Amino acid sequence: MSHHTTIRLEDVSLERNGKKILDCVSFSIPAGKITTVLGPSGSGKTSVLRLLNRLDDPSSGNIILGEDDITSLDPRELRRRVGMVFQVPVMFDGTVRANLEQTKGFCRERECLKIEGLMSLVDLPEDYTERVASDLSVGEQQRVQLARTLIGQPEVLLLDEPTSGLDIATSERILALIKKVNRETGTSVVFVTHVLEHARELADQVALIVKGSIRREAPAKAFFKGGMRKLTALFRSAKEQGK
Ligand SMILES: Nc1ncnc2c1ncn2[C@@H]1O[C@H](COP(=O)(O)OP(=O)(O)O)[C@@H](O)[C@H]1O
Ligand SMILES: [Mg+2]
Repeated sequence: MSHHTTIRLEDVSLERNGKKILDCVSFSIPAGKITTVLGPSGSGKTSVLRLLNRLDDPSSGNIILGEDDITSLDPRELRRRVGMVFQVPVMFDGTVRANLEQTKGFCRERECLKIEGLMSLVDLPEDYTERVASDLSVGEQQRVQLARTLIGQPEVLLLDEPTSGLDIATSERILALIKKVNRETGTSVVFVTHVLEHARELADQVALIVKGSIRREAPAKAFFKGGMRKLTALFRSAKEQGK
């Protein structure tokens, strides 16, 4: 797995039905780190994520993965390298094992992780492989979705508010899990959230987005320097502007 992969967005704009959704967005996603895209709802976070594995393409600007403009890559190969975990987990029919094996075809020449190792990586008991996936709790399904995305060892893991449907304790577990996966696999993580506290807990790097524009980009240490009060105020005013 490459540990040098970085994604760079360069002056990326996105329009939909004449409406500007992203306006000259530029920021970098450093290799092997957790980058948080933080912003109020409706600010364009999901839109940014969808561009990174070409579920959408920008109206203008470039997205560079490592050395390559992502438009020069085969979309399937891109999605092997840049895996997405959606806000709400969707399970295929059948057991957890079937869910994981279904994505194996995705790996091809790339080495697939072993299912036993994956289960332990996402903190699920090994005998869960034989349970019907749709019978699991949402938090457990989110971990199965994470395992499914990790099976082909993506270089970059995109997470779109993966804790939004979960209670506090479960979402804390998922946050800890994301950190563990990042540290153990070296996969670069892009974590989208509207929760300031979650960004502080996870991020190595923060990009603050409001109304489709990047307002601030900094290493987490610098971003959160000076404590939470000022930031909470900044974030709240951003929220009001974002509405
Ligand atoms: N397919 C679409 N067509 C028109 N507008 C869209 C579309 N997708 C998103 N939007 C709008 O773009 C803005 C950003 O949406 P989104 O990226 O989902 O924000 P976030 O994930 O930060 O909540 C919102 O105003 C949303 O209504
Ligand atoms: Mg969203």
